[in-house]
Amino acid sequence: MRKPQLVRADGLPDRVTIYEVGPRDGLQNESAIVDVAVKAEFIRRLVDAGLTTVETTSFVHPKWVPQLADAAELLAALELPDAVRAPVLVPNERGLDRALAANVREIAIFASATETFAAKNLNSTLDDQFAMFTPTIQRALSAGLAVRGYVSMCYGDPWEGDVPIDQVVKVGARLVELGCHELSLGDTIGVATPGQVTALIEAFAAAGVGVGKLAVHFHDTYGQALANTLTALRAGVTTVDSSAGGLGGCPYAESATGNLATEDLIWQLDGLGIETGVDLDRLVAASVWMAGQLGKPPVSRVVQALAG
Ligand code: HMG
Ligand code: MG
Repeated sequence: MRKPQLVRADGLPDRVTIYEVGPRDGLQNESAIVDVAVKAEFIRRLVDAGLTTVETTSFVHPKWVPQLADAAELLAALELPDAVRAPVLVPNERGLDRALAANVREIAIFASATETFAAKNLNSTLDDQFAMFTPTIQRALSAGLAVRGYVSMCYGDPWEGDVPIDQVVKVGARLVELGCHELSLGDTIGVATPGQVTALIEAFAAAGVGVGKLAVHFHDTYGQALANTLTALRAGVTTVDSSAGGLGGCPYAESATGNLATEDLIWQLDGLGIETGVDLDRLVAASVWMAGQLGKPPVSRVVQALAG
């Protein structure tokens, strides 16, 4: 069976924007360093499958994430249609300088909701991270770039355990005040369950950040990512982060595994009649090709089922 049976359900959006993170969140976590030509081909195949937003790479310190040290070279090798959004991760002004030199049009800043992860991932603190972000966002906006904001560890932190919801909202609301057009709520280690998702979206609304500004970013460590995504869609979210083949993780977060697989998401959205513009068969072929390059099978259940 190549397609799910189409049966619509009430209370869901007609269309969802998929924010593909495989080339960045996926490949940052691979032990092997993937050749720049392979990365470029992977991105081309994702775009050919109909993905229109692909986070391509990071301008972080190359010693912190050697897997993406070739960011400038990769962007120079890509010739994407104008309609494709190709944001990159940027932590600070040095990263912004490098992104501007590579002619990017959109960046994503990534904040931590916890003290420990701010130290481990950004060599900073919960408060001081904003000293890095504020001038970076201001300069990016004046250069005409769109700026997305991530908040990591929204639903649990491997060192600190439960994360107070107010702490998450405070960090996210501050990113929006600084000018981020969208906030992606990261379940970095994949521990969230649906009640938390609803509560967080409601807490943001109460703080003046409406659901229209929110995107969701689930890792699938505990198998909850699709349930959490459906919950977010029912609450009005229409942008979902996912990773082709289920690649992904964070090298600075213990126990983070792959993101929600884009194919698993598309199977569900296709079944519900929610438009994404993505061709599932072509996407599966892209993930199978990439898995061949990495020398290991894709973790996505849908890829396994369809490619078998
Ligand atoms: P630091 O060592 O504190 O940096 O790292 P610094 O500001 O003290 O600078 C030290 C040196 O690094 C200087 O060079 C800087 O110029 C240079 P020197 O003067 O000594 O020659 N430097 C840079 N070089 C190139 N590019 C840069 C850069 N910045 C400084 N951007 C820093 C602080 C933030 C840079 C570091 O901690 C870092 O790069 N962290 C990134 C970690 C990372 O990429 N993690 C994974 C992504 S986050 C994630 O996956 C979560 C997410 O998916 C959502 C979710 O799942 O929750 C987004
Ligand atoms: Mg992530």
